[in-house]
Amino acid sequence: MPLLVPGPSSPLLTQRLAGVCNYKVAKVSYRVFPDGESYVRVEEDLRGKVAIVVQSCPPPQDKRVMELLQLIDASLRAGASKVIAVVPYLAYSRQDKVFLPHEALSSKIIAKAIEAVGASSLVTVNVHSNLVLGYFEKIRALSVDAFPEIADYLASLGLKDPLVLSPDKKRYPDARKVAELVDGEAAFLEKKRDLETGEVTTEEKALAIEDRDVVIVDDIISTGGTIVNAAKIVSKSNPRRIIAACVHGLYAANALEKLMAAGVKEVISTDTIESKTSKVTVAKTIADAIKRLLEG
Ligand code: R5P
Repeated sequence: MPLLVPGPSSPLLTQRLAGVCNYKVAKVSYRVFPDGESYVRVEEDLRGKVAIVVQSCPPPQDKRVMELLQLIDASLRAGASKVIAVVPYLAYSRQDKVFLPHEALSSKIIAKAIEAVGASSLVTVNVHSNLVLGYFEKIRALSVDAFPEIADYLASLGLKDPLVLSPDKKRYPDARKVAELVDGEAAFLEKKRDLETGEVTTEEKALAIEDRDVVIVDDIISTGGTIVNAAKIVSKSNPRRIIAACVHGLYAANALEKLMAAGVKEVISTDTIESKTSKVTVAKTIADAIKRLLEG
């Protein structure tokens, strides 16, 4: 029977996975040395067992990534026959290519490190770009989709004539998928990001949304800038309610407060990053992926 090896960033999701899969959770100890370095020890004999390391990598990303690598290494040293790395939020995936000359290709560094330390496969959730999966050259890397679960939650809110809006044309397929599942309509806005300053601008668009519920969906909310721009545009057309839904709620720089100030009434995210907005669990979706990997 495989064992779950819990990382410090995903305690709730690990418990939920344990419930769905009926797997035991291994005892792991973590410490931080006075100088800030992380220490990880698996306190159980994992000989002959498949270890499923569960560690998301939200802020502080660099520390979370190091703990992930330590957990994989420690599981193998404890005798695990193989390690499945479950990394619900895979940090650095937005640096999926070199945008400006001489930039580091951060997502490829992460993939290489996970492979090098000895994981046999990886499961993540709504990876920002499929290019990142291609950087795993030696092991199988899967990205599962949380939008059906998000759509189920949205449907339970009793939406009125919903419009599901993508704040970026590139992510319109996600909005279309959610719209279909909540029996609504889909639309998109067009945004541009300044590669030097990171500033986001969104083109104005007239939308037929008077007295309708508008759900703005994105894979990630970080500073909230993308959703704030969309919410400001939407607000001009008198919607009934604006809801923001994402898979990974990072919420840097007071993002939640900014969203509320821009007219968003409710923010929904998943437990890929555990916070007060993670109302949707990805446990079942991840459990299905683990099952597929174990079955080969
Ligand atoms: C970008 O391509 C992503 O899909 C998100 O739209 C972006 O990461 C959101 O970032 P922020 O909340 O800082 O605008």
